[in-house]
Amino acid sequence: MFPLLEVFMPGLQSVYKEMLAFFQPLWPGEDKPLVLGEGKEDAPVLMLVGEAPGETEVLKRRPFVGKAGKNLDEFLTLARLNREDIFVTNTVKIRPTEKGPTGRTRNRAPNKEELSLFVPWLMKEIQAVRPKALVTLGNVPLKALTDGKITVGDCHGQWLESRAGAPLFALYHPASIIYRRALAPVYEQDVLILAENLR
Ligand code: URA
Repeated sequence: MFPLLEVFMPGLQSVYKEMLAFFQPLWPGEDKPLVLGEGKEDAPVLMLVGEAPGETEVLKRRPFVGKAGKNLDEFLTLARLNREDIFVTNTVKIRPTEKGPTGRTRNRAPNKEELSLFVPWLMKEIQAVRPKALVTLGNVPLKALTDGKITVGDCHGQWLESRAGAPLFALYHPASIIYRRALAPVYEQDVLILAENLR
């Protein structure tokens, strides 16, 4: 109805269209599909930002499904939220992989080049969705959305200012709890603080 508004405030779907066009020619001959965010696209109560999609996410072209989806369901139950009420996305939208010692493909952390390509798009995505709050899982999104110096060990369970405007609440990445069981009660406590703050 107001086509001019689109010029000043591009909606999420036009950001995604531009993003797909930007990445399409970047890795010719390599199979690197983008897994886009999903959920409530207009001013959700929070936007959950993960690291990058894994194997199942790429297969289904959806963020936080498979094992990570189970973690997300636990988060939603603890926080008393529904998946439809929030927006879920990742910092890097391709699956970063490497070959393990046995030759099998495995996940790795996003590298500097991937981050410098994807973080500006994450900022545009946040501007289009306008979440009331950002919740980061682990160091990758936390560093991308702050000054890049703070780590999750220093600030989990706390509100910070983000580079994207919206207030940011830092959580450990639920996958890290698998390797450090002592973090499980810390993570749960942080999610309960977040739930309390959202009421
Ligand atoms: N799956 C995702 O979509 N993001 C993560 O950070 C981990 C698994």
